[in-house]
Amino acid sequence: MGRPPAARGAPSLFLLSLLLLPLGAAAEPRQVFQVLEEQPPGTWVGTIATRPGFTYRLSEHHALFSINATSGALHTRATIDRESLASDVVDLVVLSSQPTYPSEVRVLVLDLNDNAPVFPDPSIVVTFKEDTGSGRQLILDTATDADSGTNGVDHSSYRIVAGNEEGCFRLNITLNPSGEGAFLHLVSRGGLDREATPTYQLLVQVEDKGEPRRRGYLQVNVTVQDINDNPPIFSQTLYQARVPEDAPVGASVLQVAAADADEGTNADIRYRLEGVLGL
Ligand SMILES: *[C@@H]1O[C@H](CO)[C@@H](O)[C@H](O)[C@H]1NC(C)=O
Ligand SMILES: *[C@@H]1O[C@H](CO)[C@@H](O)[C@H](O)[C@H]1NC(C)=O
Ligand SMILES: *[C@@H]1O[C@H](CO)[C@@H](O)[C@H](O)[C@H]1NC(C)=O
Repeated sequence: MGRPPAARGAPSLFLLSLLLLPLGAAAEPRQVFQVLEEQPPGTWVGTIATRPGFTYRLSEHHALFSINATSGALHTRATIDRESLASDVVDLVVLSSQPTYPSEVRVLVLDLNDNAPVFPDPSIVVTFKEDTGSGRQLILDTATDADSGTNGVDHSSYRIVAGNEEGCFRLNITLNPSGEGAFLHLVSRGGLDREATPTYQLLVQVEDKGEPRRRGYLQVNVTVQDINDNPPIFSQTLYQARVPEDAPVGASVLQVAAADADEGTNADIRYRLEGVLGL
C-alpha cells in the first residue's frame, strides 16, 4: 500500500524551476538530500552550499531537522518514522545571515523495512461442507504493509505453514498483472470427514520483499459442516429376548439402541418394527 516513490515527481518540478528562474538569478537551486528513516537523532543528512562569512538557519523551527549555522550541515533532531509522516518529501527553507537570501532544501525520507505485512483480521472462521469435492474455494483477505515498494507485501509468498498436516487444503494465489495485490483463495482438496476431523486450525504466512524479510500471519479456523453421510447403527446386530407366555400386554420385552455419527438433525433416529421373524 506504499506511497508512490517520492523521486517520481521531482524531475518535472526541477524543470519548472529552471524555466521560471533565468540563468544567473540570485536564488539558489533547490538542494536535495536523502535520509533513511529510523536513524538516531543527530544523523547527518547533507551539507548545503555555503558562502564564506555567512551564517544559516531554518526559516522556522523544525521538529525533525536542524542546521549548523556555520558549516551548513543538516542533521536530524529526532528518530524519523516515514510511515507517520504526511509525506516522505520534506521541504525546508534555509535563510542566510545579512544579506538574507532564502534557499530551498528538499529531504527525501527513505523507507526501511520496519513494518511486517498484516492481515485485516488476524484470525477468521470459515466453513467447508464435509466431503466437498476437490477444488471448492473460499476467498481470503490479503495482507497489506505500511512500507512501500520493495519493502511491500510479496503476494506470491502466501503459504499454509501449520495445521495442514493431512494436506486437505491448499492456497490459490492469483497475482494482479500490475504486480500490486492478489486474490487469495483457500481451496479444499476434498475428502473432508467431519466425523474424523470436525475442525482445522490453519496458519497462513506471508512475507514482504524487504531485507530482512518480515512476516505476517493469518489464523484460519475451518469448521467442517455435517452432511448426512452416516446411517444409524444398532448397538448389536442381533438382539434376543425371552417372554413368559403369561406376560401382560404392554410388558417390556427388550430395549434396542442405535447411534448415528452425524450431528444435529442428521443424527435424529426413529425406530419402527419391520416384521416378525421366527414364528
Ligand atoms: C557546527 O559545525 C562546526 C564545524 O564543523 C563545529 O565546530 C560546531 O561545533 C558545530 N556547531 C554545533 C552547534 O554543532
Ligand atoms: C480460532 O481458534 C483459536 C484457538 O481456539 C481462537 O483463539 C481464536 O479466537 C479463533 N478465531 C476466531 C475468529 O474465532
Ligand atoms: C485459482 O483461482 C482462480 C480465480 O478464482 C481460478 O480461475 C483458477 O482456476 C484457480 N486455479 C487453481 C489451480 O485452483
